[in-house]
Amino acid sequence: MEIIRANHYDDMSKKACEQVVDQVRHSDKPVLGLATGSTPEGLYGQLIDQYHEGNVSFQHVTTCNLDEYVGLTADDPNSYRYYMNDKLFNHIDLPRENAFLPRGDAADPEQECRDYETLIQQAGQVDLQILGLGLNGHIGFNEPGTSFDSRTHVVALDESTREANARFFPTLDDVPKRAITMGIDTIMESKKMVLLVSGEKKAHAVNQLVNGEVTEAFPASVLKRHPNVVLIADEGARSHL
Ligand code: F6R
Repeated sequence: MEIIRANHYDDMSKKACEQVVDQVRHSDKPVLGLATGSTPEGLYGQLIDQYHEGNVSFQHVTTCNLDEYVGLTADDPNSYRYYMNDKLFNHIDLPRENAFLPRGDAADPEQECRDYETLIQQAGQVDLQILGLGLNGHIGFNEPGTSFDSRTHVVALDESTREANARFFPTLDDVPKRAITMGIDTIMESKKMVLLVSGEKKAHAVNQLVNGEVTEAFPASVLKRHPNVVLIADEGARSHL
């Protein structure tokens, strides 16, 4: 795993933006895997700036997000579809029909997982997957203990994850209890991954990732088995290394 040292959050976002722009400029039909949460917001802001400055176009791009809450519709402000529209898709020239997330309001979430796998395969697999890191080592919504062989599936969210995400909801009770997530094996099929980590509160997780063993108890550790992973971590996130 290559480690790119960023000074601070904006620098991390800039370095991630360079990776994405490079991928988009140099492929005919790039497939980007995208994440939500606080960490990639700066990256999305920088991509919008690059688009407005005429440095990149997304007309030939397909995106597949990692995950979505079960039970939320696309127009629910807490859905990940809404987040992606708001933070990125509404501001760039990505054809909306090329922007995919699992459908949180699908009548049959299990079938939706199978359909999402098919969709990723038909898109031609993810070329560049953006990842954030959970405090407990989760990637996507693959919580500790998830099999490294897992494919896209419905998960019951950890209490700690619900609490960490409660800041986006009126109360903790409003945080959905289930989500659809790409599985670990699904994520590992991406040709390249860029893991973004910022801030001292993630320093413990970064240390465990870099110096700990590969174990299903810490899902992100699987990334050490992938030949093409870049960790972009700012100073705070690296402070326990
Ligand atoms: C979001 C996702 C999650 C987050 C992780 C970190 O699509 O897949 O794994 O990347 O929970 O979240 P933040 O960036 O909010 O700290």
